[in-house]
Amino acid sequence: MDSVEQATPDIKQRVQELTQILQKASYEYYVLDAPTIEDAVYDRFYHELRDLEICYPELISPNSPTQRVGERPASQFISIKHNVPLYSLENAFGNEDLITWEQRWRKVEPDISQADYVCELKIDGSALALTYENGLLVRGATRGDGVTGEDITSNVRAIRSIPLRLNLDNPPPLVEVRGEAFLPLDTFEQINREREQSGDTLFANPRNAVAGTLRQLDARMVAQRKPDFYAYTLHFQTDKIHLASQWDALEFLQTVGFRVNPERQLCPTMQDVFAYCDRWSIGRTQLRYLTDGVVVKLNSFDLQERLGFTQKFPRWAIAFKYPAEEAPTIVEDIIFNVGRTGAITPVAKLRPVQLAGTTVSRATLHNRDRIEELKLCEGDTVIVRKAGEIIPEIVRVLPELRPEGAQSYEMLTHCPECGEAVVKPDDEAVTRCINTSCPAILRGALTHWASRDALDVNGVGEKLVLQLVDQGLVHSVGDLYELTIEQLLTLERMGTKSAEKIIQAIQDSKKQPWARVLYALGIRHVGSVNAQVLTQSFPSVDLLAQANPAEIAQVYGIGSEIAQSVHGWFQNHGNQRLIERLRSAGLQLVGEDGNTPLIATAITGKTFVVTGTLPTLKRDEAKAMIQKAGGKVTDSVSKKTNYLVVGEDAGSKLEKAQTLGVTLLSEDEFLQLLEPRS
Ligand code: IVH
Repeated sequence: MDSVEQATPDIKQRVQELTQILQKASYEYYVLDAPTIEDAVYDRFYHELRDLEICYPELISPNSPTQRVGERPASQFISIKHNVPLYSLENAFGNEDLITWEQRWRKVEPDISQADYVCELKIDGSALALTYENGLLVRGATRGDGVTGEDITSNVRAIRSIPLRLNLDNPPPLVEVRGEAFLPLDTFEQINREREQSGDTLFANPRNAVAGTLRQLDARMVAQRKPDFYAYTLHFQTDKIHLASQWDALEFLQTVGFRVNPERQLCPTMQDVFAYCDRWSIGRTQLRYLTDGVVVKLNSFDLQERLGFTQKFPRWAIAFKYPAEEAPTIVEDIIFNVGRTGAITPVAKLRPVQLAGTTVSRATLHNRDRIEELKLCEGDTVIVRKAGEIIPEIVRVLPELRPEGAQSYEMLTHCPECGEAVVKPDDEAVTRCINTSCPAILRGALTHWASRDALDVNGVGEKLVLQLVDQGLVHSVGDLYELTIEQLLTLERMGTKSAEKIIQAIQDSKKQPWARVLYALGIRHVGSVNAQVLTQSFPSVDLLAQANPAEIAQVYGIGSEIAQSVHGWFQNHGNQRLIERLRSAGLQLVGEDGNTPLIATAITGKTFVVTGTLPTLKRDEAKAMIQKAGGKVTDSVSKKTNYLVVGEDAGSKLEKAQTLGVTLLSEDEFLQLLEPRS
């Protein structure tokens, strides 16, 4: 590591300039949806700033664009009490309920003649409370039960449309902004596709997906999944901000840097509110995110204050809810799908029914437990719902409409594809076929191998895979690389040109990087994100195959379940043979920096304080080394400090460390810790 010099004023100024440029570019891109600079230019500035910060760590400010996503996952979330509780809203299920609500508040305030309402779409996500101290984001918390939530600050910082700093010249000491975090529908679908591919259970709807995302311990995962945020209210105690109404508050939130839902409307009468709710009952199906109603708020803050709250709800707002998208239909049959991982999913074939604008003819039954729970029989009338308007599911059975003598459905005992007995581990909800030569599993593995995010082999899709397996041309992924044009020509409707293209695409896939190959192997729990994370720490297949589960679990974001799954996969002889075949075929099983493994050291994840004069290293040099190895450096010794690196003439920090029993390290001992663990 180069020696760390003092930052000159020029460097300090450049860091400030870069921070401002990047903040502005990020705001234009993520909040305004109107980028003004090219991605490549952004990247250049970003890397320049990051490089300067690596050389001069003292210049890193918490609101630097490089500091959005921390490298350290949290071990757990801490509960925090909200300063102002997050109330929920009373529901209105039709215009009559809105009229009753209006009559009710007018009884409390009989002198008001005209009152404006603000209508906002009710975004179906997770509520967040964001605390800004002197204009800087210091805390982000979930709603929890409304009184106590969880501190998820590092995850909140990873949401790009949440400003780390308010765009205010003279920021007040404390502002709390509230709003809804959500996952746009296309992102939600993408996440579920990935989960399906990595054998994980799917999220039922975007709301569950965003709640799950916000509870990820590794903020990098949050950044990958790209949740978005719409702000809808704020709390402050300061003379510096003057806002008279909800409408002004929304405008204000927008000017200080938040995304505010553009579909809001100021409604001077209750008739306008009806029209808004009516319009969006259809309009909402065209949005890129899910809504479950409209929030109607009295606009005037003065009136809001006078009306106040009941035990549970504000008197000045109500949620107009759209009816749930449910419909009755009849179960015609149950079929069992065998997935790539052998997981067997029961699917009900339904008499087609119209639901939320689409025809539904299938519904997932998830697993064996769900079939037993529903006590489903042939010909049953059931209520189907589009959960989050995406995956139709059966919510309940109407046994009173059951045909006489109807047979009950049961989970199968043998794989519908290969006839082998299926297994259901006690600790899992899924039933699986574990026959590695099951054609359904092979088909799934091949399709996954060739899919876009994996090796992206053009022309090798479900249809071709079905033929290749049926005709016995391919028995494993390795066979793909030995396929010939002549063999392909024996397949139905295959011309020479197409055959040549397919063979070329298969050959080209050998150039795909190691991270993609690892993802393509289809190891359970290894989606494309985990594959990338793993290959950064294990830049070659051999390093990964030799690692024990504990070593694998040291990688940030990789839990013990994933580690076990990866380790188990490489222990299997069939899989070991596959790797050797892929190696001889010439696939990339080594990353670009394959010889410099970034395997975690004893420093990774630990908190250090450096004090006194070290024999050879400058203090800043030692600090930079710790940071580079994935450790954290703080200035003062606390219970959270793991190590104090001590040199000569150490003062009060040494005393404090001794009182707290913090492990002391000499420079030599410290350098030993930097050695990779074997
Ligand atoms: S106002 C006291 N506005 O709906 C004010 N809530 O029960 C309460 N929500 O989970 C909230 N969009 O997070 C408000 N434009 C919006 C909203 C909204 C979604 C959620 C909120 C809470 C639930 C209210």
